[in-house]
Amino acid sequence: MTHISLKNKLSTNSNLLIVTDKFSNEKELSLPSELSAYITNELKKENTKTLSLNHLGRYISIVIVNQKEELNPLKEKIRKHAASVTDAINSLHEKEVVIYNQSNLHDLSLAAAEGMALANYQFKHHVTNSKKQLHTLKNITVVSLTIKQTEIDQLNIVTEATCKARDLVNEPVNILNASKLADAFKTMGKQAGFKVEVLNKAKISKLKMGGLLAVNAGSVDEPTFSIMEYKPKNAKNKKPIVLVGKGVVYDTGGLSLKPTPNSMDLMKCDMAGAAAVGCAMYAIAKAKLNIHVVALVPATDNRPGFNAFAPGDIITMMDGSTVEMLNSDAEGRMILADALHYAKRYNPELTIDIATLTGAAAAAIGSFGIVGMGNAKPTQKEKLLNSGFNVHERIAEFPFWDDYDELMKSDIADQKNIGGPYGGAITAGKFLAKFTDYPYYHLDIAGPAFLTGKDSYRGKGGTGYGVRLFFDFIKSL
Ligand code: BES
Ligand code: MN
Ligand code: ZN
Repeated sequence: MTHISLKNKLSTNSNLLIVTDKFSNEKELSLPSELSAYITNELKKENTKTLSLNHLGRYISIVIVNQKEELNPLKEKIRKHAASVTDAINSLHEKEVVIYNQSNLHDLSLAAAEGMALANYQFKHHVTNSKKQLHTLKNITVVSLTIKQTEIDQLNIVTEATCKARDLVNEPVNILNASKLADAFKTMGKQAGFKVEVLNKAKISKLKMGGLLAVNAGSVDEPTFSIMEYKPKNAKNKKPIVLVGKGVVYDTGGLSLKPTPNSMDLMKCDMAGAAAVGCAMYAIAKAKLNIHVVALVPATDNRPGFNAFAPGDIITMMDGSTVEMLNSDAEGRMILADALHYAKRYNPELTIDIATLTGAAAAAIGSFGIVGMGNAKPTQKEKLLNSGFNVHERIAEFPFWDDYDELMKSDIADQKNIGGPYGGAITAGKFLAKFTDYPYYHLDIAGPAFLTGKDSYRGKGGTGYGVRLFFDFIKSL
């Protein structure tokens, strides 16, 4: 874990990231005069916006910002630059770095610390003798007179929670099955202070969660249904916000088997939605935000074994409706449907689900954002979309027109579980909306949840997408 701390004074000789609108070697900074002259001179050169140097073993990086630019893209620029500083610090085997901000935008100090901490993430605990590979950066210090300690505390919490989500996503199914995922939520509940109840297969059967049971039918491992609740005494909301996460711990496609290369081999990530809601709960509870939040995670692997459901099967869902299941690879919506129906008992203010649901979403916008849609209230949508920009987990809103409902109609049951060849991300959302009776929003993270190559502070593998989004959104309520 990388720790971020706050100081009101700069100490000499530390590794430095200087964020500035106009570099000046002010008194507190007091760089050696020949170094300051060199920096000033270099920054005069046209189009020089960043400068990094190693001065007698001390790493110094300067990034020039134009304060007139829009804040959110600026924050993202800083996160990315800060990530490159993390890489440099680690390659120099250094432990500490200080962020010093000469601009008036104090959010940029926070963005820098966030980018650094997230870039410092590693998933190495299965590497025996990993010592030589481990990052050396341990402490990030923000020097500021205006930033509050609570802002730093929250930043530590949310970056830690994001890294926890990455860990869960990166664990393969032989290590993290549905039961282990539920155990992880229990541990996080104890650590952060929220309630976790886990329903086992017997209870899931009793509740007639037909969708979850159908997907689990081809598996040796039992399904789980995790119910997490954080209800602070001073909650501002009367009705809870409910978060639902897809917990397919591995998606083979079932009998509609996926091909291996670049497809099934990435499918340990199919519980990224579950990781996002569980770790968002962790952050929300640990930061003691005053909002009542419930999170639901239906979890199972999707395999072609035993009585695996066969394309053509008709499944009776928990809400009593029927689904003609024509493709066992459209399994996420089957388990989410039961969870969305279960959510009705909370009479939610708003329910948001998050899922690695469709290749169509990834095909449409790639890994640069989330595909969103739903019938939440305009004010709720606005806040959620805003949070997306704040944390740079942007939501591209897709249409949610009634016409798409037609594509899910079945001749022999209430719905099919697949639509036609087009609009696949939307028909999936439409299928889910049938199981809701409250303001609802659907987030498809199939694109950004898991990267096959490093992208700045989002390394290769699980990104933890959704955790920072939900934390910012709940904070905004
Ligand atoms: N888990 C996949 C979606 C996915 C694809 C996630 C790529 C991450 C990266 C989902 O269960 C799936 O297989 N969806 C099918 C639905 C189709 C059969 C209607 C798809 O997108 O191909
Ligand atoms: Mn699938
Ligand atoms: Zn899936």
